[in-house]
Amino acid sequence: MMKLFIDTANVAEIREAWDMGMICGVTTNPSLIAREGADLEERMREILSIVTDGPINGEAIGTSAEELTAGARKLARIDSRIVVKVPMTQEGLKAIRTLKAEGIKTNATLVFSAAQGLLAARAGASYISPFLGRLDDIGQPSEALLEAFADIWSMYDLETEIIAASIRSPEHVVSAARLGIHIATVPYKILLAMTEHPLTDAGIKRFEADWQDALKKRGQST
Ligand code: E4P
Repeated sequence: MMKLFIDTANVAEIREAWDMGMICGVTTNPSLIAREGADLEERMREILSIVTDGPINGEAIGTSAEELTAGARKLARIDSRIVVKVPMTQEGLKAIRTLKAEGIKTNATLVFSAAQGLLAARAGASYISPFLGRLDDIGQPSEALLEAFADIWSMYDLETEIIAASIRSPEHVVSAARLGIHIATVPYKILLAMTEHPLTDAGIKRFEADWQDALKKRGQST
């Protein structure tokens, strides 16, 4: 079944999602780390101690292949479960290729087309992250992009896994699952929204009311 990662750098959110059995990995990005006012390497260590199994993604900072590769090596030294996010650029592809040769796992990030995805897979990315919400934001159909990935990946035996990213709704997650996408990385509030249905709440109230009613009646008859 499609795996779920959480897309946050907030440790309380990660702990809750882990405790509820929702997630088997974490993605962060520089904006999410900055929002927490955290140090990247320290936060990676904290996350590793909460999520004790599965990949933990931190992003390499820089623009040149050299900068990206150096940043990636630093992160990868923390733990073998660290996956380094590398932006989908020409320099990023060079870094992905070098890191693959060194046995460092990468996640090609900021992917907005299947063409970009093909190149990242060829370069040796372990994961590719097409960003759905940001495509929707500019009026381009994110579902068509996911379909393209699903079609292509169904034709070949590829090691690279697709992560549906920039998720904005439970519907995004369900669309990805219906297409057989490997992973969706989901913000905490969307994970919580996925737990909810108004009929679940109404059902609980009704069961509770019926139960109390029955107790009262039994109390009256005895
Ligand atoms: C993925 O790994 C990114 O961190 C993330 O999904 C970006 O999402 P956003 O468009 O909501 O910032």
